[in-house]
Amino acid sequence: MTEKDFIPSDLFNPTDQGVIHSESPSNIALVKYWGKFPDQIPANPSISFTLDTCATSTTVEYNALPAKTGKASFEFFFEGKPKPDFEPKLQTFFDRTAKYLPFLKNYHLKISSSNSFPHSSGIASSASAMAALASSLVELERRHNPEMDRQFANLKSSFLARLGSGSACRSISGSLVVWGEHADIPGSSDLYGVPFPDTIAKIFQDYQDTILLVHRGQKQVSSTVGHKLMEGHPFAKQRFEQAHSNLRRIKEVMISGDLDAFVDLVEREALTLHAMMMTSSPYFILMKPNTLSIIEKVWEFRRNTGLPLCFTLDAGANVHLLYPGQNKEKVLQFIKNELVAYCENGQYICDQLGEGTKIS
Ligand code: DP6
Repeated sequence: MTEKDFIPSDLFNPTDQGVIHSESPSNIALVKYWGKFPDQIPANPSISFTLDTCATSTTVEYNALPAKTGKASFEFFFEGKPKPDFEPKLQTFFDRTAKYLPFLKNYHLKISSSNSFPHSSGIASSASAMAALASSLVELERRHNPEMDRQFANLKSSFLARLGSGSACRSISGSLVVWGEHADIPGSSDLYGVPFPDTIAKIFQDYQDTILLVHRGQKQVSSTVGHKLMEGHPFAKQRFEQAHSNLRRIKEVMISGDLDAFVDLVEREALTLHAMMMTSSPYFILMKPNTLSIIEKVWEFRRNTGLPLCFTLDAGANVHLLYPGQNKEKVLQFIKNELVAYCENGQYICDQLGEGTKIS
């Protein structure tokens, strides 16, 4: 599929109004996307677990305009209040997607969003937010073109979500999603995320992600600045190659259920992401002392219990703990006893593998 396939051929003249509700989860990358080319093309393929309860809920109220304005007109509310500081990001999204949603210029949109997770918790909200918005807009197109099948609608939603925020394209459909062309994943593309094509081992099917909120402040490095750090990075070439080979390996691991290999690969990816930031120009350390303390405790727990608890990190200080559902009780007890002390205000969020976006 190419970009052109997402330009609608049937142009309709809207006169209608209505409401669409969409709920999109966040996702956590196992093999990380870090570095991109123009037009939101990833420098390497990535794969993520789709989350379940950490989600953005978005309502789009659409009203056909009496005359064409030539530009999507919208207003944005976040948790019930107007949020003008989000508007530039939304405007960029509408500009980038105008070609693929030409009917939008005939509508006024009232977009209202809220997150299930605490605001400014340091959890990436752009992925769930952009996925929810993109899928609502594709649903609007689908209401005028009911022949559009669900699979194509998902690809288009993912394609558009990517133009808003790269990782958002992995929050549409499937519990394990690959974004970026990879030789071993049939149908994979730089343009959108695709559900992992094989059946994953049973042990992964109820995987848990407990997010320890170490630092809730404003992100020190925005993702835009972060990805730019890979341009001219001395280790960029090796990193992009490594991501390809890690994806190849994790594909086997997801099928076989080899938890030792999973733990090793996921932690190495997380530390590599931070190593890239620590060795770029300018350089950043996004982990906090409590991040490191948690990592040490996780390693100690693993040594003492033999349980396959592992961590991963985003571009921030919070720690995602990944583990099988069958170990939930023991891990939660460990978190309460030993890790809560390292969380800001003792806060953590329990999440698990989810399915993707829901539309109503
Ligand atoms: C470290 O998707 O937030 O979470 O495309 O600029 O919006 P933009 O970046 P974004 O980057 C996410 C980076 C990451 C790793 C990942 O999710 O793969």
